[in-house]
Amino acid sequence: MTSTDGDTRFVNLMTPARFGRLELRNRVVMAPMTRSRATPDGAVTDIMVEYYRQRAGAGMIITEGVYPSEAGKGYCRTPGLVSSDHAAGWRRVTDAVHAEGGTIVMQMMHVGRVAVAANKAAGSETVAPSAVVARLRMYTDVDGGTMQPCEPPRDLDADEIAAVIADYARSTELAFEAGFDGVELHGTSGYLPAQFLSTGTNHRDDDWGGSVAGRIRFFVEVSSAMADVDGADRIGFRICPGNPYNDLHDDDPEETFRALLAALDPLGLAYCHTLRLPTGPVDNEALCRQGFSGPLIINDSYEPAEANQALAEGRGDAVAFGRRFITNPDLVDRIAGGHELASTRADHIYDPGPQGYIDFPTRSD
Ligand SMILES: Cc1cc2nc3c(=O)[nH]c(=O)nc-3n(C[C@H](O)[C@H](O)[C@H](O)COP(=O)(O)O)c2cc1C
Repeated sequence: MTSTDGDTRFVNLMTPARFGRLELRNRVVMAPMTRSRATPDGAVTDIMVEYYRQRAGAGMIITEGVYPSEAGKGYCRTPGLVSSDHAAGWRRVTDAVHAEGGTIVMQMMHVGRVAVAANKAAGSETVAPSAVVARLRMYTDVDGGTMQPCEPPRDLDADEIAAVIADYARSTELAFEAGFDGVELHGTSGYLPAQFLSTGTNHRDDDWGGSVAGRIRFFVEVSSAMADVDGADRIGFRICPGNPYNDLHDDDPEETFRALLAALDPLGLAYCHTLRLPTGPVDNEALCRQGFSGPLIINDSYEPAEANQALAEGRGDAVAFGRRFITNPDLVDRIAGGHELASTRADHIYDPGPQGYIDFPTRSD
């Protein structure tokens, strides 16, 4: 049973839920957040194990974006899930979270054109649906920290697209080998699936572009390939119609995402996860509620009172909190007890090392 079957009047952040095969002991989801604490070759570090363990009280943790192939990496010190060695590192994270009674899903993030060579493995290419460069500069660790312009991407041919989809499936297999409860496809923020969806970045005239049906095909086929690994009920997806982040543009996001949801809905995926975009052209929560019949996670700038209200109104089935989880590892206990939350902070967000990462106290420390 999903929460959408029931009467929502008495649902609040502390009500357990089941999304597909995922068990949530409350509806406070930890939003995916890149924190750049992995090794340069994408391996999990000890402080990452501790960071996720500290936050296991969440109804479900969604990890930071993890690259499914070397070409899918664009930022420095982000983690990967490309090899059995990577999976062994992640196994330490999932064991630590499960030992605390938590649920943890891996977010799979292929950046496509949002990449600079200095942040990637030697010889790894930057690829995209079309050869349209992202007008961005990205941080690198070169010379103690320098910004570099994004690489001009090479457009993928049809055989290569099939290989990229196979990379997503292989990485999903590794995620289950590593003990994750599920996998979330990162479909927003201007990364590869969003590049395929959007008119500004997809100029193809073959079956992978040219029309709405062509532009949504990559997203749908990746989702299907991930679902084929061990069932659709362990796979979720994240979207944000109209999101311009990372130099993305689509002429008609409402049309694109209505078509996408109509194609995804029959797959029976575990959940849809969306960011509201108050200044955007589309009411994303309403669009996802209409277009997707499974559970919905909503996000962006929610505080506990408004989140409870949104659940009671049935706008979503769970609420994801990002920045609040950085400084409040015991966020669920604080919400449950009506306690004050520690303020959000903007320092040390992407710095290597434990400072500003695993040194935030709980109320009982
Ligand atoms: C430091 C940081 C890193 C983020 N990295 C990711 C990411 O890897 N994947 C993703 O989908 N969203 C990422 N986001 C967006 C968050 O998941 C979330 O949508 C955003 O913080 C808004 O939620 P909040 O207001 O509760 O913080 C990141 C946000 C922050 C603050």
